[in-house]
Amino acid sequence: MNGLASVEDIGIDLGSSNVLIYARRRGVVFNEPAMLAVDHETRNVIAIGLEAYKMLGREPNNIEVVRPLQRGTIQDFDMLNIMLNHFVVRVIGKHIFARPRAVLSLSASANEIEKRQLIVGMFEAGARRTQLIERPLAAAIGAGMDISQYNGRMVVDIGGATTDIAVIASGEMMARNTLDIAGDAFTDAIIRYVRLKHNLLIGFRTAEDIKCALGTVYPLGESSVALPIAGRNLVSGLPKQIEVTREEIAEALEEPLHQFLEGLHAVIERVPPELANDVFDQGILLTGGGAAMKGLQEVISEMMKIPCRTAENPQQCIAVGCGKVLEHPADFDRILGDSRRKGR
Ligand SMILES: Nc1ncnc2c1ncn2[C@@H]1O[C@H](COP(=O)(O)OP(=O)(O)OP(=O)(O)O)[C@@H](O)[C@H]1O
Ligand SMILES: [Mg+2]
Repeated sequence: MNGLASVEDIGIDLGSSNVLIYARRRGVVFNEPAMLAVDHETRNVIAIGLEAYKMLGREPNNIEVVRPLQRGTIQDFDMLNIMLNHFVVRVIGKHIFARPRAVLSLSASANEIEKRQLIVGMFEAGARRTQLIERPLAAAIGAGMDISQYNGRMVVDIGGATTDIAVIASGEMMARNTLDIAGDAFTDAIIRYVRLKHNLLIGFRTAEDIKCALGTVYPLGESSVALPIAGRNLVSGLPKQIEVTREEIAEALEEPLHQFLEGLHAVIERVPPELANDVFDQGILLTGGGAAMKGLQEVISEMMKIPCRTAENPQQCIAVGCGKVLEHPADFDRILGDSRRKGR
């Protein structure tokens, strides 16, 4: 190992909503939903990634769309490996001789056996060697934070299923926690609200779209802006279209927002005093797709009385962090797990 990476080396953010792949020198080249469409009976895989997401909510009876990772834990290993193999091969092609290196970030809740199986899966997908990195560290590096500073900084990565929180100092995680409230909780709250208030049943994709288009958790912009949404009337059973306003969506988002803020508060409360002081000084950095929710950084700053900012391209931070680690292995050697373990 000479420390030099070859062209095809890859960084992977294995999320429960999306998988992003960073290719050395090319940046983030792949971003697709972490989903597969599977035939119930035969277990044959019908579609993977974006193609599977397109089927979500309109899948035929014999097909189900599954997420192999849920709430940060691996639900279905076989499906995870099939999906990962498919994505990796799409990015690097099939190689017989030149096997790339990979740096992969996954949830802290994966256990040692799962991690080992994942490394074997990556080997089968074509990676010569896979190193694992904790999500908050990858997120911080990807956002350009200097993690070697001795004073603590807090990074909050808001994904679909989980929010990973850590205070990082001297290149290490000094405190960390994971909340099971993140982007999906906001989407689910919109589904519940529309059902209760308008008797309308809407699908996950519709709720996601409306959340991204109208969702704000802090008074920003014109509150009467409205968008049409289609669903099924729960009384008549027939398709129906209604309009929802930004104000209504803000109301729907209140409950998960409170739970999120409470969770964040509980973590900050448990941080040792010196580090807590650092966090008050240095502020909170938000990363992850869920950090794109409008108004979130404002509401966190106001409620916690701590400066808070959202990283640029928050959804890409973990993948970019994996990529930076790949490109500068000597700088980050200490923080990589399984660094000497090969696929087999
Ligand atoms: N503009 C936006 N406004 C609000 N939420 C958004 C926006 N863009 C993306 N999201 C949300 O970001 C979440 C997905 O983020 P991300 O891709 O970081 O998740 P993940 O890493 O796959 O999940 P996890 O970290 O939980 O495993 C989804 O809940 C999605 O709705
Ligand atoms: Mg994530």
